[in-house]
Amino acid sequence: MPIIAPSVLAADFGNLQRDIEMLNQSEAEWIHLDVMDGVFVPNISYGMPVIKTIDGLTDKVLDTHLMIVQPERYVKEFKEAGADILTVHYEACSHLHRTVQAIKDEGMKAGVALNPHTPVELLEDIIRDIDLLLIMSVNPGFGGQKFIRNTYEKLVRASELIDRKNAEVLIEIDGGVGLGNAEQLTQLGADVLVAGNSVFSAHNPLEIISELKNS
Ligand code: DX5
Ligand code: ZN
Repeated sequence: MPIIAPSVLAADFGNLQRDIEMLNQSEAEWIHLDVMDGVFVPNISYGMPVIKTIDGLTDKVLDTHLMIVQPERYVKEFKEAGADILTVHYEACSHLHRTVQAIKDEGMKAGVALNPHTPVELLEDIIRDIDLLLIMSVNPGFGGQKFIRNTYEKLVRASELIDRKNAEVLIEIDGGVGLGNAEQLTQLGADVLVAGNSVFSAHNPLEIISELKNS
């Protein structure tokens, strides 16, 4: 069964406590937090104070996805805010290996995210050092976008790379995930499904989370 990571980007920020309490009651094991800086992606979301607030409202794993340039500048701050997993973009790091080590030195799990155009093969020499591979299935920056179908093929190649390298890495799919593609993604080797709009715009989010979990 996949791990479900609802993305708070789609939550109602006027009722953040209510929405986090809903997630606490749900079968989701992780909470996905999207940090955007308006430079790496054309949108600005939220940062440490919001993450700290969420950390105080939940015991779930805080799965923090940094869509920011030079993420190495803030590793310690995100740890202090409550991040359990810190994912940086391949495209945003000149010294990815150093950044991954810095994340692990802070006691967090280290993830690397790939934009839709970035091939998984570029991770050949770092795959054994990371805990999570986040495959973007939309262009990062916004929730509610359409799933890019090339992700299926990319997922298969990611699984092959991880097997071939004997690496212990979870594969996470982020963007446009819902009941229409969750089953296929799970069958092809996805370990973690991020879901923003499909959860928070649903009439009954708890039910959708449960259905995604059982997909
Ligand atoms: C997009 C973010 C995603 C987003 C997913 O840049 O990385 O995590 O919140 O939202 P949905 O599931 O609505 O595509
Ligand atoms: Zn994300």
